[in-house]
Amino acid sequence: MADGLRKGLTSYGDAGFSLFLRKAFIKAAGYSDDALDRPIVGITNTYSDYNPCHGNVPALIEAARRGVMLAGALPMVFPTISLAESFSHPTSMYLRNLMAMETEEMIRAQPMDAVIVIGGCDKTLPAQIMAAVSADLPTVVVPVGPMVVGHHKGEVLGACTDCRRLWAKYRAGEIDDTEIEAVNGRLAPSVGTCMVMGTASTMACVTEALGLSLPMSATIPAPHAERVRSAEASGKCAAEMAKRKGPRPSELLTPASFRNAQVVLQAIGGSTNGLVHLTAIAGRTPHAIDLDAFDALGREVPVLVDLKPSGAHYMEHFHHAGGVPKLMKQLGDLLDLDARTITGATLRDVVAQAEDVPGQDAIRARADPIRPEGAMAVLRGNLAPRGAVIKHSAASETLLRHTGRAVVFESVEDMTLRVDDPELDVSADDVLVLRNAGPKGAPGMPEAGYLPIPRKLAREGVKDMVRISDARMSGTAFGTIVLHITPESAVGGPLALVRTGDMIRLDVAGRRIDLLVDDAELQRRRAALPASAPAPEWARRGYAHLFHETILQADEGCDFDFLRREGKD
Ligand code: FES
Repeated sequence: MADGLRKGLTSYGDAGFSLFLRKAFIKAAGYSDDALDRPIVGITNTYSDYNPCHGNVPALIEAARRGVMLAGALPMVFPTISLAESFSHPTSMYLRNLMAMETEEMIRAQPMDAVIVIGGCDKTLPAQIMAAVSADLPTVVVPVGPMVVGHHKGEVLGACTDCRRLWAKYRAGEIDDTEIEAVNGRLAPSVGTCMVMGTASTMACVTEALGLSLPMSATIPAPHAERVRSAEASGKCAAEMAKRKGPRPSELLTPASFRNAQVVLQAIGGSTNGLVHLTAIAGRTPHAIDLDAFDALGREVPVLVDLKPSGAHYMEHFHHAGGVPKLMKQLGDLLDLDARTITGATLRDVVAQAEDVPGQDAIRARADPIRPEGAMAVLRGNLAPRGAVIKHSAASETLLRHTGRAVVFESVEDMTLRVDDPELDVSADDVLVLRNAGPKGAPGMPEAGYLPIPRKLAREGVKDMVRISDARMSGTAFGTIVLHITPESAVGGPLALVRTGDMIRLDVAGRRIDLLVDDAELQRRRAALPASAPAPEWARRGYAHLFHETILQADEGCDFDFLRREGKD
C-alpha cells in the first residue's frame, strides 16, 4: 500500500497526475520535497471557543508536532468536530456518533500513516477511538487532561460533583444567591476536563488501560508542563508507529485488553457512561462487552481509587499518587499484564515503571479498598430485560435494597415542569421514575437520570432517593440511581408500563429491578399502549433522521447500527 503523500489519491483517472496535482497544491503552503517524502502523522484539532475543556489543545498540537518532527516524520493538523458537554443541544451523546463518523472519514480520506487524536471532554475520546478503531490506522490518543481543583471557603471544589452538591444545597435554601454566584466562578478554575471521576476522566483512564495512550497520560493536569511534554512524546511515538506501520488498533484491542479496561473501569469508580462507550468501541471490533461478565468482574474487583464522586480526592491527587500505572500495579493479577500498548511495551513493562509515592492515599492497596466490590452493577428484572446499570459505589447504602411507590414522569419536560410542584404527591420513600429519556425517546439519552430531589423534600433535608430511568447520568453525580433501563420506554420497554402508585423493588445485591405488578395486568397495559407511531417531527430530515432510524440501545453502546464492525444486519 502507498505511504505518506501517495496514500489515498484523489481519483482523476490518472494516478500520476493525481499525485502531481496534490504536490502542486500542498507546495503552495511552502512544503519542501524533503518534508513531503516523510511518513505523515495526522493530528486532529478539536479546539473550539465552545469547548473550554479543550482550551489547551493548541499547545498540545504544537508539542505533538514537535515530537513528530523530532522523530523524522511530517505532522499534518486537520480540524474535526468538537463536542463540549454544556454547549451541545440536546445532549452531546446525540452528537457522539456524528463526531465518530466525521473523524473516521477524515482519517480515511486524507493521506496519513498514523494519527494522533487529541480530545477529552466526555464524548470526544469515545468518538475518536470509535473512529480510529474503524479506520484501523496506527493511533495515539492524547487526552487534554483534567482541570486543577478549585477552592471555596477553605473547601476543595471540583467540577462537577460539587456543582451538583452545591446546587442541591442552593435548591434546599442552605446557601444564598451571592454564595452560589461565588461558587460558580470557582468550580472550574482552569482549562481541561472535569477533575472528578466523571466520564472524561473515566475514558482517559480506560484509554490508558487499553494501551492506546502513553503511561500517565490520563491524569496529568491540563495546565501542567508535564502535559505538554507528554504530547511531545506522543508525537514521537506516533512517528515511530507511522514508520513501523503499527501497532494498529486491531492489534492492540483484544479480549484481554477489553477485559483490562473493564477491570480498570470498576476499580476507578468509573462513570456509567464509560460502560456505554466501551461497548460502542468493542462493537467496532470482533469483540463485545458482555454485561453479565462485566457485572461478575464487579464482584471481584475492588474500588481502589479514592476520587469523587465515589471517594474524596480529585484527578490531580490520583496523578501525584502514581496514576493509572500505579493503579494497575495494585490490581496486579486481576489484569492481563501481557497486553500490549502503542509503544510496543506490555502493561507489565508499564507497571514496572510505576512510581511508589510514600504516604499517598488516593490509590489504595487491594487489602484496603474504598469498597470491596467494583463501582457498577448490572441489574436485570421485569423492568430491565436487557439490563440496567447502577453505580452503587456512589449510592446510599441504605437504599440499595428498597421497595417504594412509583412517581412517574412521562418525559424530561414533564419532570422539569412538575418535580418542584408543592402539590406533587411524593415522599422520601417513593421511587422517582423518568421515561422517554432513552437513546431514541429523548433523543440522545440525555444525562437526565440524576432526577432532582423534589424541592419540598430537599427542604426537609432529603439528600437521596431511589431514581430510575432509561436516561444516562453524569459520571460526576452521586445517588441511588438506576440508569440505562433497556429496552427504553420509547421502543416499548417495560418502563412504558409503570403507573404512579405501582410498587417497585430495587435489590442491588440480588442484581434485580422489578415492577411488582402481576403479568396479566402488565399484558393488559401493553395491549393498551398506542400502536407504533410515525417518525416524530424532529426526525424527518438530516442527521436527526439518521439518528432516529439507526440508533442502537444502551446494551449495544448506542452506536448506529450500520457503524458496527459487521455493518447493518
Ligand atoms: Fe468537559 Fe466535564 S464538561 S469534561
